[in-house]
Amino acid sequence: MTQLSAAQTGTSGPSGSAKTLYGGKGTRRITVRDIAAAKERGEKWPMLTAYDAMTASVFDEAGIPVMLVGDSAGNCHLGYETTVPVTLDEMTMLSAAVVRGTSRALIVGDLPFGSYQEGPVQALRSATRLVKEAGVGAVKLEGGERSHRQIELLVESGIPVMAHIGLTPQSVNAMGYRVQGRGEEAAQQLLRDAKAVQDAGAFAVVLELVPAELAAEVTRTLHIPTVGIGAGPGTDAQVLVWTDMLGLTGGRVPKFVKQYADLREVMSGAAKAFAEDVVGGTFPQEEHSVH
Ligand code: KIV
Repeated sequence: MTQLSAAQTGTSGPSGSAKTLYGGKGTRRITVRDIAAAKERGEKWPMLTAYDAMTASVFDEAGIPVMLVGDSAGNCHLGYETTVPVTLDEMTMLSAAVVRGTSRALIVGDLPFGSYQEGPVQALRSATRLVKEAGVGAVKLEGGERSHRQIELLVESGIPVMAHIGLTPQSVNAMGYRVQGRGEEAAQQLLRDAKAVQDAGAFAVVLELVPAELAAEVTRTLHIPTVGIGAGPGTDAQVLVWTDMLGLTGGRVPKFVKQYADLREVMSGAAKAFAEDVVGGTFPQEEHSVH
């Protein structure tokens, strides 16, 4: 069998430790220790959402080092209007599929609304399901100061936590979808939230829809990596919802999304071509038939 070089595999050393987060095929999964090392090196990294095994396998092969099984599955996969109705059973099923479809990426499972707000013990029970039943390597939950007790207990129990502050979509009924951290008071609150999740032991923090200058300041202040979405170029990592990034989401997408393909157009064109072939009697042909 051909041996791949460390550069080709994205690994180095006998332990197979990740050399860079992005790129190549590794001999083992990315861990939160690799994420911490990337911050020390000043390496930026990409994260994408994934909700199913096949899509996740494509991103894994492309070298995406971290995948989030986000509760954005609610709007982008399950047909809900918001993330609020998503259940822990649904997140467990989707997370397990993404874990099965991947071999290198760190898979982060989102704790859905109602699965951790009661307190640390409920958070631990819910996170334990995602770790044991789905096999995720870390969980994500929303909230800064308000969630620090939950984060502390999960981390003490050996479950790595990605925090999420700024716009927190599970609170849409209270806060709407508005830019967060504008104005001195709100900016100070965001900084307090960021420090609270770091002090509680989170290994990374998502900053959603916050002014670029503030996100850059949070990134300079923290020793854990920041993952921006609608937070400008100054964060350590960037995350996009995959259906937005690949142009599958119908209707208006947020201004901060860069669309790298138009899958909706490609899929619709292919579906129409198939339908026309069937209606016109040109599919199947001899080469598609068995005898
Ligand atoms: O659920 C999700 O996809 C998220 C990302 C937008 C960070 O929380």
